Amino acid sequence: MTSAWFLVLVVYGLVGVQAFSPKYEFEFPTPEGLTPEPGKEDVYVLLSQLLDRVEKLERKCEDRGKSQVAFSASLFNTEKWTHYGPFDSETRLVFEKVTTNVGNAYDNTTGVFTAPVKGLYYVRLTCNVGDSGSLNTAVMKNGENMFAIFNTLGLHSSGSNGMTLVLEEGDRLEVFLWPTRSVFDQSRLSTFSGFLVFPM
Ligand SMILES: *[C@@H]1O[C@H](CO)[C@@H](O)[C@H](O)[C@H]1NC(C)=O
Repeated sequence: MTSAWFLVLVVYGLVGVQAFSPKYEFEFPTPEGLTPEPGKEDVYVLLSQLLDRVEKLERKCEDRGKSQVAFSASLFNTEKWTHYGPFDSETRLVFEKVTTNVGNAYDNTTGVFTAPVKGLYYVRLTCNVGDSGSLNTAVMKNGENMFAIFNTLGLHSSGSNGMTLVLEEGDRLEVFLWPTRSVFDQSRLSTFSGFLVFPM
């Protein structure tokens, strides 16, 4: 009699597992006319706890999928040697040639990266000096200068700088070239990159 009850318990347990997934609602299976044998209810309690944990893990995985963010773009989408600037006022650089854009948070028509989630990001800017002979570019966050490159070593020298930044969802990063300076590219020398280290 004991083993028969155990078998019933196992079968109801299996049916229960199928009924719960993927959108389960846990219902303690209490078959008509049967009283659970003392001690065996633990199996159901354990099952319920396990299903809760699985659901939590599934949610975590989903969130992680949303927060995979990385981009890299080169200034010009041409291998032709191209000098840009100098201009009379600060000019936004639109890095055209997208090499990586996981999460599609970088827009190569505006040059703006918009943080899709709050988190710690690593951002890097590398620029090659154009025929003005000097370079001054900066990464701006919502209009605020976060870090810059300054190079007066002459044509085709390079400067690079990077930072970790805590960005709120919706924060905007863009790169500006300051007046009287110029930048050079042939699709590989001047680049703007960033990635989410972890969400916060
Ligand atoms: C912007 O990126 C897309 C996708 O990589 C590319 O097809 C397009 O040519 C780029 N735009 C410019 C102006 O280079």
